[in-house]
Amino acid sequence: MKMFVVFVILLHVSQHASAVELYEGVSFILPCQGDTFGLFDPTVVWSRSDLSPPTVHQHQHQGDELKDQNQRYSGRTSMKTDALETGDLSLNLTDLQLSDSATYTCSIRDKRIGQIRLTDVQLEVKERFPSWVKALLVLLVLLVVSGGLLFHFRQYFMKGYKVGVESAVESVLLPCQAIVCLPKDAKVEWMDSYRKVHVYKNGSDRPEEQDQFYKGRTKIKRNLLEPGDLSLTLKPPTDTNTYTCTV
Ligand SMILES: *[C@@H]1O[C@H](CO)[C@@H](O)[C@H](O)[C@H]1NC(C)=O
Repeated sequence: MKMFVVFVILLHVSQHASAVELYEGVSFILPCQGDTFGLFDPTVVWSRSDLSPPTVHQHQHQGDELKDQNQRYSGRTSMKTDALETGDLSLNLTDLQLSDSATYTCSIRDKRIGQIRLTDVQLEVKERFPSWVKALLVLLVLLVVSGGLLFHFRQYFMKGYKVGVESAVESVLLPCQAIVCLPKDAKVEWMDSYRKVHVYKNGSDRPEEQDQFYKGRTKIKRNLLEPGDLSLTLKPPTDTNTYTCTV
């Protein structure tokens, strides 16, 4: 609630000092001043003529008189206890709702002279987050979550091969096929679980980028008839490992 009060300070109050725009959830003091001197048992009445019953709040010398109060303002209104002595007849309205947008009338009622209208306050309560902002937030969250899932389970989308060889063989071919045609400056990277096995960039091998362990032991297949074939020849195969081909 305290935070909301800060928002109230940022309000736009029009020249007529009676039209106010607020966000839902905040509390707001509807201003009203009135000299009650010489009145006989006066009643301060805050009302909304578009409602039935119209009473938003009533206050007398003895205290608040809320038996005629409209249900929707139940527990959300208060006035200063010494309002009739000081003439500060302002109404504290809390937890503003969109349906509170209306014109509020502050008047004073006296048994002899009847009802005197003192002030009209026009209130416009706005949604803090319009529905398009909410929709955008939901969309963003969905995007992030699905992106995260896709990243987490990326190996399930990759094509995997299990290549088994006898320990005595000289070399092994690790298959990798690109479905699309690669651009000339494409970079192909073969990795084991943590080392760079082979790097191929801009149309040539990059032995300076590969791990020492694989120096002179790798050869990428470059076949002009099959430009998508990025299979790697490894010799000799040493141990069981998972090799990843990335373009
Ligand atoms: C309005 O009423 C609320 C709830 O009783 C209270 O927290 C808030 O301080 C009041 N505002 C002012 C300015 O008195």
